[in-house]
Amino acid sequence: MKVVPGIDPARVPKHVACVMDGNGRWAQQRGLKRTDGHAAGEEALLQSIYAAQDVGVEWLTVYAFSTENWKRPISEVRFLMRLNEMILIRRLDELNERGIRIRFLGRQDHRVPGRLLREFNRAAEVTKDNKSLTLTFAFNYGGRAELIDAMKRMIDDGVSSSSIDEKQVRRYLYHPDMPDPDLVVRTSGEYRISNFLLWELAYSELVFTDVLWPDFSADHLYDAIRTFQERDRRFGKINTSGLKPRRARAKVAATT
Ligand code: IPE
Ligand code: IPE
Ligand code: MG
Repeated sequence: MKVVPGIDPARVPKHVACVMDGNGRWAQQRGLKRTDGHAAGEEALLQSIYAAQDVGVEWLTVYAFSTENWKRPISEVRFLMRLNEMILIRRLDELNERGIRIRFLGRQDHRVPGRLLREFNRAAEVTKDNKSLTLTFAFNYGGRAELIDAMKRMIDDGVSSSSIDEKQVRRYLYHPDMPDPDLVVRTSGEYRISNFLLWELAYSELVFTDVLWPDFSADHLYDAIRTFQERDRRFGKINTSGLKPRRARAKVAATT
């Protein structure tokens, strides 16, 4: 595992989720087409995957296409479908060799082209036994859609209302084994969730950066992890150590 200055290896977030935003603005700033911005985002994605893996992140979830993104012009939607298909085709061997497990998170409905779904399913099958980072593509994903799908399946299964609790709801999410994100990073200076992982984000730390996604690099990810490590995650409790979080950490660091 790579040692990165300023990052405590013992407290690396287990699950990082990224809202990869700002491709269109990146392209517009350069007089390019919005789709050129999406294409440029591929390199930022790969860099982020490898940077996360190097520092010991176990789960990385990237928001690649939302249930609301269908409202974009058809030409842009088609480009995004094709781009994701090509990324899976181009990068599968390299990701697999690095021990990365690939998964799809979202609705596999008729609007997603069959050839793209086939690539997602192939990537998931080929990499299913990999034990390093789990890379989840949130594609045709909406947090509300995930909860609606969960509710429908619970009703179809005859789950009784008295047995519904947090554990039960989790069983009906798309990937029940996926831990909640510890850290969510959103690029492009937008301060919103945009229907990402609504159930799972309940206690995630949120980090926002003005960097546009195609410019996002390993260093930006490491900055976000450093910010995460400065946060005091209380989960509704109170800090009982009597030390301010920074001092508490300095003490831990001094003894390790
Ligand atoms: C993110 O970049 C990519 C997707 C939503 C698929 P955008 O395309 O949203 O870029 P901006 O926000 O318009 O700059
Ligand atoms: C969120 O970005 C979705 C993805 C990054 C895939 P959007 O650009 O679609 O979000 P809004 O519309 O600005 O909220
Ligand atoms: Mg956007």
